[in-house]
Amino acid sequence: MRPTNYKIMINCRRFFVFVILPVLWLGTAGLTSFELLPSLSSGVIQTDTIQPVRAPHGMVVSASIHASTVGSDVLAAGGNAVDAAIATGFALAVTHPAAGNIGGGGFMVIRFPDGTTTAIDFREKAPMAAHPDMWLDDSGEYSRTMHHNSHMAVGVPGTVAGFWKAHRLYGSRDWKRLVSPAVELAGDGFNITERLAGGLRRLVEGRGAAYEGTVAYFSANGSPLNPGHRLVQSDLSRTLERIANKGRDGFYKGETARLLTAEMKREGGIITAEDLSLYRAKERTPMKGTYRGYEIISMPPPSSGGIALIEMLNILEGYDLRSMGHNSSDYISHLTEAMRRAYRDRARFVADPDFVDVPVHRLTSKAYAESLRSEIDPLKASISEPSDITEAYESKETTHYSVVDSDGMAVSVTYTLEYGYGSAITVPGAGFLLNNEMGDFNPGLGLTNADGLIGTVPNLARPEQRMLSSMTPSIVAKDGELVAVVGSPGGRAIINIVLQVILNFVEFEMNIQEAVNAARIHHQWLPDYVRIEEGGVTAATVTKLENQGYKISVRGEQGRANSIMIDPDNGDRLGAADLRNVDARAVGN
Ligand code: DON
Repeated sequence: MRPTNYKIMINCRRFFVFVILPVLWLGTAGLTSFELLPSLSSGVIQTDTIQPVRAPHGMVVSASIHASTVGSDVLAAGGNAVDAAIATGFALAVTHPAAGNIGGGGFMVIRFPDGTTTAIDFREKAPMAAHPDMWLDDSGEYSRTMHHNSHMAVGVPGTVAGFWKAHRLYGSRDWKRLVSPAVELAGDGFNITERLAGGLRRLVEGRGAAYEGTVAYFSANGSPLNPGHRLVQSDLSRTLERIANKGRDGFYKGETARLLTAEMKREGGIITAEDLSLYRAKERTPMKGTYRGYEIISMPPPSSGGIALIEMLNILEGYDLRSMGHNSSDYISHLTEAMRRAYRDRARFVADPDFVDVPVHRLTSKAYAESLRSEIDPLKASISEPSDITEAYESKETTHYSVVDSDGMAVSVTYTLEYGYGSAITVPGAGFLLNNEMGDFNPGLGLTNADGLIGTVPNLARPEQRMLSSMTPSIVAKDGELVAVVGSPGGRAIINIVLQVILNFVEFEMNIQEAVNAARIHHQWLPDYVRIEEGGVTAATVTKLENQGYKISVRGEQGRANSIMIDPDNGDRLGAADLRNVDARAVGN
């Protein structure tokens, strides 16, 4: 690399990592959050924006300090990483209601200390009454409202069944003790941060205003809650208590199921008691690939994450990325061409494997990557054929958390309600928000158009099919040793975010906090432009890329990749919360 370019690149990255992020974090919420700290029974909490937090035994990194603390306390009391992941997940359903949930679904990837791996699929599924045309209104027109903002948009939730299955198979502590911290957080309440107050204000003044339960639970008689307000969620606490006492039946049967189906019946939803009783989480074999000797373990379909991540890494392995320099124009053009191809394949081929044959082995083979590489001219942008899809709305709210225990068991969980606060519908009497994950199905056969609809066949809504996802909870190992746990929210950008965090520590030797902080880019085949985080690259780099034929949009931020790395020298767990969410924290012991 030319020395001047290198200097610009380094300065740019430094500016983003050392100036923009710390100012955002400390300036907007750091102090507020620390006034609102929960009591920590043991361990260390992240206070640095540049260095990860270090702990010798266990680590939990999540979007909420309360949830990270609950998980870390489970580890400190001798629970394993699956136990801690379950406790953290239930706590997030209380303290991070935008995406933490019991009314949604997600994925968990596990690596055991002996190097074996597994994955739990608790993605929502379509109710029995679902069909590909279900979002056409009476006049036969596609209704975006029905698809994304209605009771019809709610998928059968999977989270409780997923945690229950993970616990039955791999947990070591009493189930009830893992749910109890969430029961208490909901019942006793917790002080809301500025960020959460802002989110709840937007919810109750916006999409949630139409729903009585949402306004009742998340406002003070219709007025927005102020930062510092103690949010007590008594009905949610009682629901969690039923789950603590009865396990999955506490959600899918009895009072909780009755309240959920009553809300559906009242408001024209289609989830029935039978849908709830039929829901099963599934254990699946993780996707595996390699990159320069590192083993990549990630989520298989119905997520597209693992396939696309491995496809991109396979393509990129053929280039000397390191010598190009992080976020240089060369680096960005190579990443973009890999992203373009993997996202095209994602749209064409990937859906629920129980309904569709996905050519997993071909898409993730090194030979296929080589054939794709041979069509790439890194000096000239390829063209995405606009025959199939364009971008649909992407929300920012899903949540990822990472856990490592003292034995080296690693758990990577990404789960979601789809939009922030999901459907914005809170079940009256039960106190939890419902997802709007049905929006991840294609809107209808042949409905592909330039406004962002995709009408391809594999990912149409069919009874009991799981909708296609981009969530990419992942684990990296090398020579039989755990290296890192990564993942992120971010809609379709998730896969690219995980890709870049991995490249940042493998190629550019960043510590895990720098790897998480560093500015990201995103390209998803169509629409055909590269989105770059603000402050991420120089104007000269943008100009160079534009001269090569790339359309560039510099704006916003991408994802929240709460990650953990293992110090290869002494085995310490290094936790890195993604400070793009000022409430996120790593807590270790
Ligand atoms: O499963 C998926 O891919 C989407 N429902 C995830 C949504 C998401 O990440 C939104 N937030 N960042």
